Amino acid sequence: MMFFYLAGWYFQTRILGKEKPLQTVLFITDQCNLSCKHCSVYNHQNPTSKSYEQIKEELQYSYNLGSRFVDFEGGEPTLWRDGERNLNDLIDLAKEIGFFTSTVTTNAQRPFDWLKANSIWVSMDGIYEYHEAVRGQGTFAKLVENVHASGHKALSANMVIDANNYVNVADTLEFVKKTPAFKSIAFNFYTPAFQKKDDPLILDWKKRCEVIDYLIEQKKAGAPIMNSRSGLKKMKDLSFKKVCWMCNYILPDGTRLKECVGKTYNVCEQCGFCMAGEMRSVMNFCPDTLLAGVNLRDKN
Ligand SMILES: C[S@@+](CC[C@H](N)C(=O)[O-])C[C@H]1O[C@@H](n2cnc3c(N)ncnc32)[C@H](O)[C@@H]1O
Ligand code: SF4
Ligand code: SF4
Repeated sequence: MMFFYLAGWYFQTRILGKEKPLQTVLFITDQCNLSCKHCSVYNHQNPTSKSYEQIKEELQYSYNLGSRFVDFEGGEPTLWRDGERNLNDLIDLAKEIGFFTSTVTTNAQRPFDWLKANSIWVSMDGIYEYHEAVRGQGTFAKLVENVHASGHKALSANMVIDANNYVNVADTLEFVKKTPAFKSIAFNFYTPAFQKKDDPLILDWKKRCEVIDYLIEQKKAGAPIMNSRSGLKKMKDLSFKKVCWMCNYILPDGTRLKECVGKTYNVCEQCGFCMAGEMRSVMNFCPDTLLAGVNLRDKN
């Protein structure tokens, strides 16, 4: 079923030139229990949490556009509630509507062994003090405890590399290799929310390219890196033609975007979201990227 849909989608987009999303990033709340240094989403003053009915409408809208994979985002999505309902009710709802898989990205500060998502991303921005420099004191130990307790069979880490923690990439990869609860790790780079000249978190471009070369080498050697080699290569030079419409976004305030919010804020030239390179590589039919995508879905 999924295979036939993907074949049809590929024909319509690649051959007929339609811009039809395959994935949706749906922000269900901007409430959060952390205040990470690199994040511009959390809202402690006046947090919003969408109603079940609003999310239902947004899922149906995305499905009607063509999307079949949904990533529930926040804020901290595991905090979401509407009356008796929790995130598992949204996962059930997405399935009922016809989405093939649901993914959740969490900061893992609370137990998430109850989550029914097909795959779970745990944000881990380095290990020990590197992670805590971004996410706050005590956050690493809690993350490790909840990751070990989760028991989920498709659990991966996600590291956002910045100007401080890039020196910790190799150790973080080693940590993932030694932690059986993690199946793999994805790497992204810090992307500024607005164009700022002297943003101290932006990693110097030369160093970014060195990190990418290192990751490509490690991937070749069999390290459990989720990014594909083709996708990583693309992130060294962002002049490629973007196909970011492959993933539509619905923000905490309900704004519906055809591409990620980075386009609205005009930061595509500083993009660190490896999805940009991965999506381009899917559209180019790069075998290693397609394989990475299949592996990701296959774990479900
Ligand atoms: C906004 S958070 C929401 C989910 C959850 N609260 C968490 O931290 O995993 C989703 C992902 O976006 C990443 N992120 C936040 N700000 C970013 C930025 N400026 N550039 C790149 N990634 C960013 C986070 O590290 C996290 O992996
Ligand atoms: S936990 Fe996630 S949403 Fe909350 S502040 Fe950190 S990156 Fe932002
Ligand atoms: S290039 Fe990067 S910042 Fe721009 S829309 Fe694509 S993913 Fe977002």
